[in-house]
Formats: sequence, structure tokens, C-alpha cells
Amino acid sequence: MQIAELIQKKKQGDQLARDEIMTLIAEYTQGSIPDHQMAALIMAIWFRGMSRDETLALTLAMVNSGETVSLDPVAGIKVDKHSTGGVGDKTTLVLGPLVAAAGLPVAKMSGRSLGHTGGTIDKLESIPGFCARLHREQFVRAVEEVGIAVSEQTRKLVPADGKLYALRDATATVDSLPLIAASIMSKKIASGADALMLDVKTGGGALVPEVEQSLELASMMVDIGCAAERPTFAAITDMSQPLGRCVGNALEVKEAIKTLKGKGSEDLRELCLFLGSHMLSLGGRTSDLAEGRRYLEGLLTDGGALAKFAEFIEHQGGNRHIVEDTSLMPTAGIVTEVPSPLGGYINQIGAREIGSIAKELSAGRDTEGSIVDPAAGVILNKKVGDRVSPGELLAELHSGKNVDGHTLHDLRNRTIEAFNIDEGRASPSRLIRAFVTREGIRHYGNDTPEH
Ligand code: URA
Repeated sequence: MQIAELIQKKKQGDQLARDEIMTLIAEYTQGSIPDHQMAALIMAIWFRGMSRDETLALTLAMVNSGETVSLDPVAGIKVDKHSTGGVGDKTTLVLGPLVAAAGLPVAKMSGRSLGHTGGTIDKLESIPGFCARLHREQFVRAVEEVGIAVSEQTRKLVPADGKLYALRDATATVDSLPLIAASIMSKKIASGADALMLDVKTGGGALVPEVEQSLELASMMVDIGCAAERPTFAAITDMSQPLGRCVGNALEVKEAIKTLKGKGSEDLRELCLFLGSHMLSLGGRTSDLAEGRRYLEGLLTDGGALAKFAEFIEHQGGNRHIVEDTSLMPTAGIVTEVPSPLGGYINQIGAREIGSIAKELSAGRDTEGSIVDPAAGVILNKKVGDRVSPGELLAELHSGKNVDGHTLHDLRNRTIEAFNIDEGRASPSRLIRAFVTREGIRHYGNDTPEH
């Protein structure tokens, strides 16, 4: 293949043919196309974009680059949920056991945290004994036996994505919508789900902050899923402030347990009920969203969802007693209080900045090799719309001995700066901003177009 010709074609804004994309990805994965040529092509894609057909061809070529998982032995419609990533987004920890308790099989492949966003695998691994590395057979068997399994995605699944993502990271081309859509959807399709519920975040802490871009990304992914015969819906949800009150691995597991007991933050609970009722409908468990929601609310109050979480943890080697006694989870040695310097209303909490502070406390990683402290993170004592008095706590920073006093002082000041406090009260952004299906976009509240 003459890769220079493909670069030229894309540079001029012409479309690449399906066969060209298939050969390109196969040869790049095998190592017969060098990174410098692929980097030039990716940059041309960044500027010129990709058509619907090109993006679909790229997704399917990436699926074909490695192994795929078959969930055929598991009875029923397997509905996967995927979030584009955010700060304090522990939705999977609640939603997984919740919909599994409702009889929907959950077979989830997940990733680790990178940059300012968290990763489900790091969160689960903060549970003493939990094993997230399941062989394919173990993974499928766990879904059959327990109804839910979460495993770390192996490098054998979509190896083209591992190579391309590293190249995009090194060439400042991560933020190309068709490349993001193909990257996410190829991994979801290869993981074997029959249907997909996507949670596309929007706002300062999201991968794509502008709502118009989040909608475009969601539409692309819904289109790819449906074209690949995986019915796909997407919710556009708020990430202008962290979700819930805890950011950091063990802290987020504790918050998820609270939510599974029917308590906890309203935004996290609401998001889980919204996504969960749509998942039950996608999976054919309920025909009516309101009925699905009532069923899920019942499982949060009668202990059904919590019992499923304990069963899931135990089956993957973890200590199930954490659900009754969260002091069995890792606890930080140092807690730094962050009091408010002034009184007023909290009008904004910079989600990206809180995520980045949590990462510096060692809750996340800058590079794949960074060591994560499972107990580290941030607890928000106030959310947008709350009133605060001078001296009242805004947040707590949880850390270990590896973070020195000077750094903590700096992070404390940065946390204060991340809170915008004013005399007048601004309403928090709507949690669910829009819902995207193959038929179109339904807007909620502020994002309703004027025409
Ligand atoms: N998450 C992915 O899996 N891929 C991207 O390109 C961006 C976010």
C-alpha cells in the first residue's frame, strides 16, 4: 500500500475507501507502516474529519485488528454501558450491580485512570483482594453465574487502538471526534455486547467540553453502533462539576456503597436510575421507562442491588464485608481540611481542576506506569447551589506520606480557587442534557434549540 497517496488524499479532503482503511489498519497493527506516516495521516484526519462511511470503516477495521469476545454462552441481551470519562464518575460501580440485580447480564471490560479522569478498574482494585484480570473463560463464566463481571481490557482486544491512542497522545490529535468515536466503539463492539448505553459527558471536566461537540460525538457513536447492528443510545450528561461528592478510588467505592443503600448524592443516584431504566428497556426487561425506574428504585431500597454488589466483589476475590463496614477499605493517613475563605453560594466547581488535584494526591496517573494510592482523593463538602459560611469546610484532601506539606499547601489553595463563590445563587446545570437515538436528539432544559 502507498501510504503517502492516502495521506495526500486525506490532506486534500477526499474520502478514503473502505478497503484502503481496512488494509491501512491491518498493516499499521502488524508494524509494516511506520509511526511517522501514520502520524501525518492522523493529523490530516484531524483537520479534514471523516465521513460517516470512513468512520464506520475505521471502527470495524480496528475491531478486526485483534481478538473479540463472544458473550453468546450468556443468555439474554447483553447491554453494556460506557462513559466518555469524568471526575468522580463512579456510575458503573452502582449501575452494574443495580441492573444485574434486575436480571440484565452485565459483562463489562473497563480501563484505568489517565490524566484528570478516573478509571473503573483502579476503583475496583482499591477493594482488598479484588481481581480485575479475568481470562476470557472466567469472565464469561462469572457473568453466567453472578450476572455481572468487570474485567480489565486486555491488549489483545483492539491492539490498533493501543498503538493509535499513543500516537494521538504524542501528536496532540486525541481530540478528533471521528478518532474518539472509532476508538471507543471498536472496543465496545469487540467486547461482545448486543446493545450499548453511552454516557457522553459535557462541561469543563469532560473529554469534549462543549455541548455541541458532545452531541456530535454522541450522534457519531450511535450511528456506528446501529450500523454495526448493536442498538445504541447516548445520554449527554453534565460534567461541569464532579459527579457526587467523592473523587478518588476507595472514596468513590464508599460513595457507591452509600448509593446502593438508597442514600448518597442525588446527582449520582439520578444518573444511575436514568441510565438504568434505559438499559432495562434496551435489554427487553421492561417496555416502559417509568416501570423500569420504579423497579430499580425498589432494588436500591430493599437491599437487592447492594447484595448483588457484595456477590460480585466476592466472586472476583474481594472482601464482601466492605459493604457493611467501609472502614475495611484503604484509608488515607493525612486529611487536609479546606475551609472557605468567604461566605456566599457555590456557583461553580471546576471539575477538571478537582480531577487534577486528586491526581496530584496520587489518586490518578500521568503515565501508564504511575503508582496510584487507593486511599487518596478529594471529598467535596459543598456542591454547586449550596450556601457556605466563612470558615465552613469546602472540601477535604486525602493523601499519604508521599505528598509533602508544601505540595499539600499548594493543593489546598488550588482547591479554594476551584470553587467559585458569589453572593447570588446560580442554579446548577441540568444533569441530563440530551438523549440521542438513531431517530434524532431530544434536548432537555437549557440546551433546547430555539427553532
Ligand atoms: N476514550 C477512548 O477509549 N478513546 C479515545 O479516543 C478517547 C477516550
